[in-house]
Amino acid sequence: MALLELRGLTKSYTRGGRAFNAVDRANVSVAAGDFVSITGRSGSGKSTLLNMAAGLLKPTAGTVLFNGDDIARYNDRAVSLFRNEKTGCVPQGQSLLANFTVLENVCIPWFLRKRAGDPEERALTLLENVGIGRLAAAYPKELSGGEMRRAAIARALINNPPLLIADEPTGDLDGETTVKIMNLLNTLAGEGTAVLIVTHEADTLNYGTVAYSMNAGILTLLPQEKNNTAVRGGTL
Ligand SMILES: Nc1ncnc2c1ncn2[C@@H]1O[C@H](COP(=O)(O)OP(=O)(O)O)[C@@H](O)[C@H]1O
Ligand SMILES: [Mg+2]
Repeated sequence: MALLELRGLTKSYTRGGRAFNAVDRANVSVAAGDFVSITGRSGSGKSTLLNMAAGLLKPTAGTVLFNGDDIARYNDRAVSLFRNEKTGCVPQGQSLLANFTVLENVCIPWFLRKRAGDPEERALTLLENVGIGRLAAAYPKELSGGEMRRAAIARALINNPPLLIADEPTGDLDGETTVKIMNLLNTLAGEGTAVLIVTHEADTLNYGTVAYSMNAGILTLLPQEKNNTAVRGGTL
């Protein structure tokens, strides 16, 4: 069974007095170990789709099933719990808190719920794994865009979520850093995390096990031969 299943997922907005579907009856399944990527140009509905999948936005129609449970039926408290325990999110753009160090930022989702133990060691390991262990004591303003994105990925993984959701995790990054981040996500998926990402860059299509394109809210599955050309390897 898929871990995450989006069925007929639709979000309607009204703009300038006219209704339109930012996401129009999207169907996606993501299982453990899958690396699902969705590409589409700006404004095609990618963030709206991810925000519904992450429980941040209520769909107009359709369902978001997590382990067969419809998360749209959850109350606020249950959605918060779902988000904190089951998902790691890398939001679009810069999302680290400026007044906290990189290490503290990574630990924040861990502290949002009462947990036993100390997350610091795990946070340091994650920072090492994403290649910025040396920056643990730095502040976000001292980091490059790629380093901030890596820190956000480490933060998304601190609670060891079964599902990682990333919104344009390589946006504004140079080619070399893009490859490193995509390899990192690919490795994570290879280790059993379900990974769902959206990106506006077609070159990230080479990664992942399943690829979709999004155009004006309509999601289309791309032919299999375009997928899965990257080799999984390395350790995370
Ligand atoms: N709250 C909103 N109200 C009205 N329109 C919105 C709202 N949020 C997003 N949109 C519109 O929905 C479309 C999809 O937006 P978005 O999901 O952010 O696209 P993408 O992430 O692919 O760039 C865009 O045309 C955007 O202007
Ligand atoms: Mg977006």
